Amino acid sequence: MVRHLTKISDFSKAECENVINKAIEIKKNPDKFDTALKGETLLMVFEKPSLRTRISFEVGMQQLGGHAIFYSIKESPLGKKENIHDTAKTASRFVHLIAARVFKRHDIWDLAQYADVPVINMLDDFAHPCQMIGDFLTIKEKKERLEDLKIAYFGDAYNNVTYDLMRIAAMFGLKLDVACPEGTAYTPEQIVLEEVAQISKKTGAKVNVVHNAFDAAKDSDIIYTDSWMSYGIPVEEEDDRRKIFMPYQVSLKIMKAAKPDAIFMNCLPAKRGYEQTAEVIDGSQSIVFDQAENRLHGQKAIMLFLREKF
Ligand code: CP
Ligand code: NVA
Repeated sequence: MVRHLTKISDFSKAECENVINKAIEIKKNPDKFDTALKGETLLMVFEKPSLRTRISFEVGMQQLGGHAIFYSIKESPLGKKENIHDTAKTASRFVHLIAARVFKRHDIWDLAQYADVPVINMLDDFAHPCQMIGDFLTIKEKKERLEDLKIAYFGDAYNNVTYDLMRIAAMFGLKLDVACPEGTAYTPEQIVLEEVAQISKKTGAKVNVVHNAFDAAKDSDIIYTDSWMSYGIPVEEEDDRRKIFMPYQVSLKIMKAAKPDAIFMNCLPAKRGYEQTAEVIDGSQSIVFDQAENRLHGQKAIMLFLREKF
């Protein structure tokens, strides 16, 4: 059966650990893998913008000896000119992997249902699994462990990155406080809360949604935030959102409430003065560019795993 990565919990905890360990091996010795996907092609379908994801997949595929095709569907959304079934079936005749960044989760699910090759979600409105592999690789490098960690997330929690952070924290049995404004427009969807609760029951994870930023930061090893203006949010909403999220801005005060050796993470793109202050993102606790770099190594491992190369 063809495996896909539509959200991080499509992989088991053991599979995530395997992929992360492979990424560490690839990062240490990239030349060993320079023909690992020789002659193979990755199709990258983009409906939203990207800096990190596009570049890291394209460079990653090239470093593995393969080739990546950038295909923008901004002007011609999936399912419009021809249905997703036909798109997935046709692409599967040409390429070995399909990666997609789309607005609607159902588009990823449909691609995965009909494709005959692995489908990788490069971000939709429900998940960002490639980010999680890169992030947990970075956490492992910085903290030398992936257990017994307390993470605090701040800001927009009706959010793809937050959802996968909740899922992976639950899978690894971690503590995660998601600090966000009240209201359904800013808090995680019920379907995500239910999935996370179910995973946590087995792993003993403690994933909670809270509304006090300082309580969330207390005793944290990792402070994490994401954009208040995710791709596609209308610019007219920016002023209102800025006011609503401001109590959850990661400031030096928030960093001080965490453990002294806490690290600051943001998947990027970031805006100084919004989800974090400039002192925080440009400060000594920030690891955001290591996080960005590790997208490359993590995704090379994801592609090798899905192509059954380990
Ligand atoms: N973090 C991330 O996915 O960045 P891009 O939107 O630039 O790809
Ligand atoms: N939540 C953000 C993540 C960007 C990588 C967005 O969807 O734009």
